[in-house]
Amino acid sequence: MSTNQPLLQPIEVGDLTLKNRVWMAPMTRSRAANPENKVFELHEEYYRQRASAGLIITEGSQVSPRGVGYINTPGIYSAAQTEAWKGVTKAVHEANGHIFIQLWHVGRMSHPDFHNGALPLSASATNPNSKSYTPEGFKETVTAQEMTLEDIKSTIQDFKNAAKNAMEAGFDGVEIHSSNGYLFHQFFNGTSNFRTDEYGGSIENKARILFDVIDAIKEVMPENRIGLRLNPSLNGVFGMTMDEETIPTFDYIIKKLNDYDLAYLHLSEPFTDVSKIPFAEQHIAKRYRPMYHGKLVINSGFDQEKGNEIIEEGFADAVAFGKPFISNPDLPERFASHVELAKWDESTFYTPGEKGFTDYPSLQEAKVD
Ligand SMILES: Cc1cc2nc3c(=O)[nH]c(=O)nc-3n(C[C@H](O)[C@H](O)[C@H](O)COP(=O)(O)O)c2cc1C
Repeated sequence: MSTNQPLLQPIEVGDLTLKNRVWMAPMTRSRAANPENKVFELHEEYYRQRASAGLIITEGSQVSPRGVGYINTPGIYSAAQTEAWKGVTKAVHEANGHIFIQLWHVGRMSHPDFHNGALPLSASATNPNSKSYTPEGFKETVTAQEMTLEDIKSTIQDFKNAAKNAMEAGFDGVEIHSSNGYLFHQFFNGTSNFRTDEYGGSIENKARILFDVIDAIKEVMPENRIGLRLNPSLNGVFGMTMDEETIPTFDYIIKKLNDYDLAYLHLSEPFTDVSKIPFAEQHIAKRYRPMYHGKLVINSGFDQEKGNEIIEEGFADAVAFGKPFISNPDLPERFASHVELAKWDESTFYTPGEKGFTDYPSLQEAKVD
């Protein structure tokens, strides 16, 4: 066992002390296959198995029926959904873990099939030219409907309501999903936001909705329990295209986040090879570490060695691991023991039931077998 690695050191996040810096990245698993999109015992088992993470960030959970974009993803807007999440938070807390819920609105990545034929909502009437995972399989996305100021107001309320529900359900905090080409990201980028009101045009205006949401959520929970996820150099996936203003917009957002006392800022390194992308920046952590004064968690493509390195170098405070946590429920223990990691099976990422979800054994269980 070697527990003196940077990844395995405790960390203070707001008023929480987390036992290590190996965080579980948010991952949609599409197991909430019931009419109300509620989590159930299977989710309790899945998250309990992963409670050795310093912090679990749950799968994206829609804040409203209009926010949904994929089948069988859980919600956090109704009383029944809130009640169901209590089982998950209890299971994680009993296993000595901490858990934030990721609050999600997909915007134009949704499909009319989810809304009785009504169009998905977005900053402007644009089509991501992507695919939506509907009850009838993958379908081409459509041109979204531009949100009215009333739509924006009610969406802000939806996030506030979801945060309130999250507190009631016993979560330690929330993570606002403002990355990966979903609703907020659609407002940030000039290639998907053509508005001429206070939510479009200037960099300040394109970022405004996010700060309105943080301000609304702050009214129902402590600021230092709110985390936020951004993916500044996303290009060519999830329908997003960068332009000259993309990086300056993210610079603005990230500097302004210093006005708040948030739990953390969660950044993703580019998902794609950025060498061919104009305006993209390699090493997102290195760019933004000097600009952001709070806790910074970095994600995408990290392994134990690179994770230890980036913390050691001072470019991040914690590392979120996605796929490695799917197939290695006790990832921190495996890092401590330096054992080879189990491989994940992509074919069961989004399939119903326990296969590929709760049936990856822990090291202990593997030994017994
Ligand atoms: C199955 C799967 C589902 C995902 N769902 C989400 C999600 O709901 N919210 C989110 O912000 N990112 C989601 N992601 C992205 C991951 O959080 C993470 O950024 C990505 O897997 C890269 O990290 P990794 O290299 O450690 O796996 C998902 C990734 C995978 C593989």
